[in-house]
Amino acid sequence: MTDRILIIDFGSQVTQLIARRVRESGVYSEIHPFNKVTAESLAAFAPKGVILSGGPASVTETHTPRADDAVFALGVPVLGICYGQQTMCAQLGGKVEAGDHREFGRAYLDVVEDCALFHGVWAKGGREQVWMSHGDRVTALPPGFRVVGLSEGAPFAAIADDRRHFYGVQFHPEVVHTPHGAKLLENFTHHVAGCRGDWTMHAFKGQAIEAVRRQVGKGRVICGLSGGVDSSVVAGLLHEAIGDQLTCVFVDHGLMRLGEADEVVSVFRDRFNIRLVHKDASELFLGKLAGKTDPEEKRKIIGATFIDVFEEEAQKVGGADFLAQGTLYPDVIESVSFIGGPSVTIKSHHNVGGLPERMNMKLVEPLRELFKDEVRALGRELGLPETMVGRHPFPGPGLAIRIPGQEITRDKLDILRRADAIYLEEIRNAGLYDAIWQAFAVLLPVRTVGVMGDSRSYDYACALRAVTSTDGMTADFYPFPHEFLGRVANRIINEVKGINRVTYDITSKPPGTIEWE
Ligand code: XMP
Repeated sequence: MTDRILIIDFGSQVTQLIARRVRESGVYSEIHPFNKVTAESLAAFAPKGVILSGGPASVTETHTPRADDAVFALGVPVLGICYGQQTMCAQLGGKVEAGDHREFGRAYLDVVEDCALFHGVWAKGGREQVWMSHGDRVTALPPGFRVVGLSEGAPFAAIADDRRHFYGVQFHPEVVHTPHGAKLLENFTHHVAGCRGDWTMHAFKGQAIEAVRRQVGKGRVICGLSGGVDSSVVAGLLHEAIGDQLTCVFVDHGLMRLGEADEVVSVFRDRFNIRLVHKDASELFLGKLAGKTDPEEKRKIIGATFIDVFEEEAQKVGGADFLAQGTLYPDVIESVSFIGGPSVTIKSHHNVGGLPERMNMKLVEPLRELFKDEVRALGRELGLPETMVGRHPFPGPGLAIRIPGQEITRDKLDILRRADAIYLEEIRNAGLYDAIWQAFAVLLPVRTVGVMGDSRSYDYACALRAVTSTDGMTADFYPFPHEFLGRVANRIINEVKGINRVTYDITSKPPGTIEWE
């Protein structure tokens, strides 16, 4: 079995980063909510080490989260981070107090002793930058511990019990603002816990293929392909696992970007030789969207029509036993919420409109354990083209929500597609594509006057949008140089008939959203 690290979540905003850092060091890790961890679940998961996350509660209050005592009796190394360090100390006989020396943001750690956690990066006598976010602090160590680092606000900012291999840090090694944090976590997983670091995408691919074969047997699987990263990787993986037992259905709603539909067909049908149903349903979608201008109404029409067409095409190929979905790890992590006490919520927004129940299919979700960047790495491992695995997110309703406040017509879609393609081409040429979360053009519901040559023009205005983000929940506009924007605007106005004015959207999210509707 692959060496694994268990991360016990106490509700920190950055718990997912711990898992990502651990996985980046080649060690498989999972996040489990603190209230689901028991002696039995620990034995079943069999971790080589346990990390206790931070969290918003205070150990000084009763009825706040604790780690199951079985964690400390398991005989494996434990690393407590922030709240995790505090609860470990409180549970093992130390003391935690509410401090008046709150530390938020950048702080400095004085390394007062050498320690296995610091191996190869920090030495006794050093002063190192770390990132803190705490009010409470440990004020007395449990028996067996020694202090190895201190900060202005925390006399026990890094502690170690070398015999039991228990470690604690008040700062957050998982965030980039602790510059050597990733190395400290690697020291814990590799040096202290003895993990081999052999969890690679190559290894994952082999395991995932075996798992799909076991689950599916001789059954038939259907997979909705959209051209996005997740569904493309699912399709590639399933094809490698079960070949012709897989049929992909690509419902082409006619709202894709320039050349996108052709690329899906050429990659999956022609290159990978996957059984692919390409249903050009653009007439149907555009017919149903005729005269509609309200964003939510458009979304509903597109969603419902998609389900109908998908089901019809799936029936035509004889149905299937399984529906494949690109559910990712962030969608399945049970989050710890403290509103009204610990509770558990599971997001399920990837479920395609109740189709599995409607068609009596079971789900195949081979990406359930992966973060987005890992999905991309798997896509590369499967030989998918870079343009596909590195692609920006694209909304399900496609260009329909980028023609805001107006009726969607083929003409408008063509104009928008050409402007969007020029914009993206220039972004790629400037080497900026990967620095941007999402970039696109929006066709505005306004015509403006211009002069072109000797004549007056009266054409559409278009807005360009580009944002940086880590998860789409918050976003900043991308600060393009003016000269770049000028070049794109010139090209669009010269090359796209129907647009005579270009603006750049400098709204952040919040208060704006990424899309215009
Ligand atoms: P907003 O516009 O809400 O978008 O800031 C956040 C992210 O979600 C995408 N998005 C959608 N994706 N169906 C989707 O599948 C939708 O209706 C939809 N609306 C927005 C958006 O592109 C961004 O990545």
